[in-house]
Amino acid sequence: MPNSRRNFLKSVGGFAGALTFSSLWDKLYAAEFDSRINKISHLSPEEVATDEDFWAWVQNSYTVSASLVNLNNGGVSPQPKVVQEAFERYNRLSNEAPSFFMWRTLDFSREAVRSDLAAILGCDPEEVAVQRNTTEALANIIFGLPLSKGDEVVLSKHDYPNMINAWKQREKRDGIVLKWVGHEVMSENADELVKRYVDQFSKKTKILHLTHMINWTGQLMPAQRIVEKAHAQGIKVILDAAHTFAHLEFNINEIKADFLGTSLHKWLCAPFGSGMIYVRKEHIPDIWPLMSAPDPQEDNIRKFEHLGTRSFPTEQAIGMAIKFHHTIGGARKEARLRYLKDYWINRAKEIPKVRIHTSQLPEFSGAIGLFSIDGVDSTEIGKILQNDYLIHTTTIIWENIDGVRVTPNVYTSTRELDKLVAAIQKISESN
Ligand SMILES: Cc1ncc(COP(=O)(O)O)c(C=O)c1O
Repeated sequence: MPNSRRNFLKSVGGFAGALTFSSLWDKLYAAEFDSRINKISHLSPEEVATDEDFWAWVQNSYTVSASLVNLNNGGVSPQPKVVQEAFERYNRLSNEAPSFFMWRTLDFSREAVRSDLAAILGCDPEEVAVQRNTTEALANIIFGLPLSKGDEVVLSKHDYPNMINAWKQREKRDGIVLKWVGHEVMSENADELVKRYVDQFSKKTKILHLTHMINWTGQLMPAQRIVEKAHAQGIKVILDAAHTFAHLEFNINEIKADFLGTSLHKWLCAPFGSGMIYVRKEHIPDIWPLMSAPDPQEDNIRKFEHLGTRSFPTEQAIGMAIKFHHTIGGARKEARLRYLKDYWINRAKEIPKVRIHTSQLPEFSGAIGLFSIDGVDSTEIGKILQNDYLIHTTTIIWENIDGVRVTPNVYTSTRELDKLVAAIQKISESN
């Protein structure tokens, strides 16, 4: 950090610190949350996962619709009240004197957010930069990597379209070669998943683009094993962790991916338009930032944050989302999300004509589940759920995938999932 910046940070330190401090309401809320957590702290995450009283209280921490059952948290998630409040507080403060409070105060408080995000990912804060979403984070890597004509990049048809398009743009513009991996809709065979990637490696392969959890189906990839194979051949790995960060507990130093991008408005429930990039320390000088810094080849991770004026309240309220995440506890959250996925799938799979396209094994899935009904168009199922039952899901028709995706979050109740299962039963019977 430059000296002038460090000195300034010191001088405003008390003030900036006070800004991240909770309001009285937040303190009362935190005290109640603590007492709730105390009541369940002797239980294992799996035991807590079934405690509907505790999760009803978590649901009340959100402001979600009482009439619509939102089961599309895979797209974007709502924020708990405390996060909305924090955002509004920072926004009001910014409006008192924008250039002072945003540029001279909140801008420096990003350092606390950086450290807290790094702690969840298990890396050094100097390897983490705040971004607006996964698309921006991974565009920084995809467009910033020095690649030459003929260099090969391995990726999958099941990766996210924005990333596929970014790679296709580089293919057109720079003459790199894309080598495509095809996937089954669902797989519980880690050896086969690893082999599909390894089969595409050649002496010219420089980069492997890997989606940690496939958004279309909820398929979780054996990332650590795939990264190991890539590294053995000198190939660097970009991990799209849009669906695993703050959803599943993992440590980037175990997976050992070289680069990672994620959105924080998905599983962390941070403000809309927040994300994060991770670049392993030794690679930082190699990546040219999309929005250039005074020295684009420096080894300072902050070179990826030269965005100009952005939503400072959004960035600052990420801190409150992290607090909320830790208060529930990452392990409890993961156990509850898996429990909810199994809850509806165990019931739905008994219904005639229903097919489940997501594994229930923990090593191949998390909270996301995909189903279809034989003889019923998946788009039609999505419409009936929305129009007749006020259940919001998303229909997935992509490559070899055809189904309806169901994604609960921590505020989803089993009662809501009972409604979903009853609706699926009705649709199956009447079509
Ligand atoms: C796997 C994956 N990567 C990237 C993205 C893009 O996320 P964002 O729109 O927040 O940039 C998504 C969005 O759903 C996704 O599922």
